[in-house]
Amino acid sequence: MAPSALGRVLVSADALKARVAELGRAIARDYAGASPVLVGVLQGAVPFLADLMRELPLDLTVDFLRASSYGSGTNSSGAVRLLSDLTVDIKGRPVLLVDDIVDTGLTLAVLKRTLEARGPLSVRTCVLLDKQGRRQTEIDVDYVGFTIPNVFVVGYGLDYDGLYRNLPYVATLDAT
Ligand code: IMP
Repeated sequence: MAPSALGRVLVSADALKARVAELGRAIARDYAGASPVLVGVLQGAVPFLADLMRELPLDLTVDFLRASSYGSGTNSSGAVRLLSDLTVDIKGRPVLLVDDIVDTGLTLAVLKRTLEARGPLSVRTCVLLDKQGRRQTEIDVDYVGFTIPNVFVVGYGLDYDGLYRNLPYVATLDAT
């Protein structure tokens, strides 16, 4: 049965704020003196990226790409398409790819490879949530906000059929 009702809060708004600030400090340290391109994956990374970038006292550029895995609902199908592309040239630049969640890892792995093919100085990855034990591909995520169990979550950018992205916290969905 499809999950469709909000369940319990998994990560509160306060916990998100504190962790994003911590990630910001780590990233700011690692990129000190550099001018990175922050690449957000639409649409899920928007709240996370918006908060994270304000924790980074760097000369940075922000850009977005849109990816889609075929199908909808709560399972990623694994076939990743690039639906809209960057507008900036990342050649020679350090890139930080920012997404909401890494589940099987297929989306992030494909996007990372796509960006690496364009000759950037480096491509690192940053996700708010890491779903444990679900990986289907080798990908080292450089910055992780929270490791979560294998439950479907919504809020703070994450959706179920387009809904719930505007919640200021991350919650589970319950089957109804
Ligand atoms: P992956 O390719 O399996 O790693 O899936 C990554 C994408 O699947 C994310 O960018 C989300 O769009 C979506 N996704 C995976 N798990 C969840 C979830 O629990 N809630 C909402 N979206 C999810």
